[in-house]
Amino acid sequence: MIVPTAELFRLADGNYAIGAYNINNLEQILGMFQGCVSSQAPFIIQISRGTRTYADKRMLQAIIRTASEMYPEAVFAVHLDHGGEETCYDCIDSGFYSSVMIDASHDPFEQNIKVTKRVVDRAHAKGVSVEAELGKLGGVEEDLDVDEGSAFLTNPKEAVEFVHRTGCDALAAAIGTSHGAYKFSGRQGLHFDVLERTQKGLPGTPIVMHGSSSVPEEEVRRINEAGGKIDPNARGVDENEYLPAAKLGVTKINIDTDGRLVWTRVHREFFRDYPEKFDFRPPGIVFVKEYATFIAKKNEKLGSAGELPDVRKALAKS
Ligand code: G3H
Ligand code: 13P
Ligand code: ZN
Repeated sequence: MIVPTAELFRLADGNYAIGAYNINNLEQILGMFQGCVSSQAPFIIQISRGTRTYADKRMLQAIIRTASEMYPEAVFAVHLDHGGEETCYDCIDSGFYSSVMIDASHDPFEQNIKVTKRVVDRAHAKGVSVEAELGKLGGVEEDLDVDEGSAFLTNPKEAVEFVHRTGCDALAAAIGTSHGAYKFSGRQGLHFDVLERTQKGLPGTPIVMHGSSSVPEEEVRRINEAGGKIDPNARGVDENEYLPAAKLGVTKINIDTDGRLVWTRVHREFFRDYPEKFDFRPPGIVFVKEYATFIAKKNEKLGSAGELPDVRKALAKS
């Protein structure tokens, strides 16, 4: 069942985070539904602009609607990830999306506010909620000193002004993470201080953590043993920090890279072990199963596992 993102946020608020997983293909969708039903977790399906081009927006809708019929117990929202203004309008007008992200974080502050506010007005008129971003992900490097590094993080004071002036429903805050497999080096980690100050200024506003993959060492090692060449220094977010972040208002945790690593590991190992094979369905079957297991484990770490019965009950009442 597709539900409003805002409803999932309301029920999770301060207790657990909802996994927002990027998908690009049929096998991921099957694995995600299976993993979320088996772990009894609500979830968010994220569709990026790249995904809409790769798989075609109509194809995605059809597959997701069919998966929803196949797994009637599943409760989830459909979200546009890192949208530009035009893509946001297309998704809002489609009637399919529960929420959109307008990412104007690369623009100067005032311009970010202007663009975000335009999208918020259009979205709210159609009952769609909006995530917007303030601060820059991926700018924090080990060789910058803390003050320089912090300049890229979300400024908690600006965050209050940004949310109030735009009316956005959720804030993607830069708290030290970045997209992809190479997030940290040395002793870097999440900036809980920035998160805490941001949440204090915005009680009740869901905070979104992008770049939240954990990039498991084991996954990188197996990929490399099967012929991959991923830098073994690749490092992600400590999964044990998801729940402490959730208690500080992080309600949506975005994960894409970790799922890509599962896909790459399964397929590299399969074709290494069976070099004579060329039917792609057998590794596809392995992938769906492994991806479902991966999603279920993530949901445990996010605290969303086991919440589905309560979510269903609450939604039935409202
Ligand atoms: O934050 C970006 C997501 O990982 C989506 O990546 O634009 O390659 O689909 P993509
Ligand atoms: P990762 O690259 O850490 O998976 O982040 C994904 C993301 O933030 C999608 O918006
Ligand atoms: Zn992101």
